[in-house]
Amino acid sequence: MPKVKGSLELPLRARSAGQSLTDWLYEELRSAILEGRSPPRTRLPATRDFAVLHGLSRGTVVQVFERLHSEGYLSTRVGAGTWVSDRVTPRPPSSPQLATPPDYIRRAIAAYKKPKAFAGLRSLGPARPFRIGGVDLQEFPSKLWAGLAARRARNTGSSPLNDYDPRGYRPLREAIAHYLGSSRGIGCTAGQVILVSGVQQALDLLARLLLKPGAKVWMEDPGYFGSRIAFESVAAKIIPVPVDSEGIRVSIGRKTGAAAAGAYVTPAHQFPLGMAMSLGRRMELLKWASNAGAFIIEDDYDSEFRFEGRPIPALLSLDRSSSVILVGSFSKMLFPSLRIGYIVAPPALADFVVAFRARTDFRAIHFEQAVLADFMERGHLGRHLRRMREIYSARYAALLEAAQKHLAGILEVRNVHCGLYTAAHLKNEMSSSEAEKAASAAGVETLSLDRCTLAAADPKGLLLGFASFNETAIREGVRKLARALSE
Ligand SMILES: Cc1ncc(COP(=O)(O)O)c(C=O)c1O
Repeated sequence: MPKVKGSLELPLRARSAGQSLTDWLYEELRSAILEGRSPPRTRLPATRDFAVLHGLSRGTVVQVFERLHSEGYLSTRVGAGTWVSDRVTPRPPSSPQLATPPDYIRRAIAAYKKPKAFAGLRSLGPARPFRIGGVDLQEFPSKLWAGLAARRARNTGSSPLNDYDPRGYRPLREAIAHYLGSSRGIGCTAGQVILVSGVQQALDLLARLLLKPGAKVWMEDPGYFGSRIAFESVAAKIIPVPVDSEGIRVSIGRKTGAAAAGAYVTPAHQFPLGMAMSLGRRMELLKWASNAGAFIIEDDYDSEFRFEGRPIPALLSLDRSSSVILVGSFSKMLFPSLRIGYIVAPPALADFVVAFRARTDFRAIHFEQAVLADFMERGHLGRHLRRMREIYSARYAALLEAAQKHLAGILEVRNVHCGLYTAAHLKNEMSSSEAEKAASAAGVETLSLDRCTLAAADPKGLLLGFASFNETAIREGVRKLARALSE
């Protein structure tokens, strides 16, 4: 007998007028098998259970099963049950996709503007150097995590899985408040921490809460495409503010974006260029926000990965007027598909953020949150970060060294010692997109910096991710990139 898959619980469509019960059941099961809704090797329930489940007599079910068996659709063996035969080759159902879609679908497609960062990107296959956004999962303490998850799963009756805290699982919020205090210099309470699925959900929520259509919001230029997507989706007016080696140029923002509702910035590690915002700029930005009554969304991504020098405290740690809302996530610290992030909101705003969160989701994912809380409370997060910092630092060093050797005069890798990807500046005559295309043709994945610009000229460079690749792969990637960009 072949290995069979889970038992069949098939929704049966209504019987048409005049159709006998046996004909109807036969047609329903046969079409489910032929259309692949019940693929080969799917086990069918015992005739008695099937009859009870669908309110039929057992005789009807036996008759239909026997007919399908005699026609070769089903296989059966005494003691082993009945399953969909291996010999059936399902054909796809006549697809509604092929018909002309209704107006509402065509309108939605016509109105959809593909974000610039993703337009023209081919769908992603397996990760190749230097794709951004990944972490090294080989190094993740999965046994330990599995043990914590199993412990929680064995206690499904326990409170974390039943309770409903609209801010998210409280012990995790406490652990995050504690972590932010010790590592980012932030004094906040668990009540100010609201759990979300990641920075992107935080930005979507905050954009809807804080911005009306047409409201002005500052963005660093070049800047993070994720925030652009969130602000454009509420029809806010994005004001591109140029950056220099100290970060966002507040004085230009004040001139071109007067009366803005707020600003979005990446002070720890500017996206995509990589510098940290200087103390002078931080004070200037805070002063502007405080005088204008504006918000500052501080995206604290990648701040955990500073490979040299002391960590720079968050902008929020300097805020004395409740201007700053900090957003962060565990996507880089642990792994992106975990989907746990946080918003740290000023006390007066926190309840409203929670109320907005409930508009799209009444409940938080407490199971994973409880596992993560256990992980943090037992000190594993700190240990994991220290270990990963060493690994990523060595990979970054390998990238810098290989670039100096093979890419001199072609592409200069920024020496910023922070984050899991780095900007590199083109020294040949290529534009960013030409370089991205040439690299891609040589099997190297990069992101051209002009995908991140708003009004700025092409920064002529590429973004290179190094976190998910070992040193050998990094060196090989650099050699390929050098060949591609020098041809
Ligand atoms: C600037 C910036 N913010 C945030 C994130 C993380 O987003 P999320 O928490 O939604 O995974 C990234 C990921 O690449 C990023 O580059």
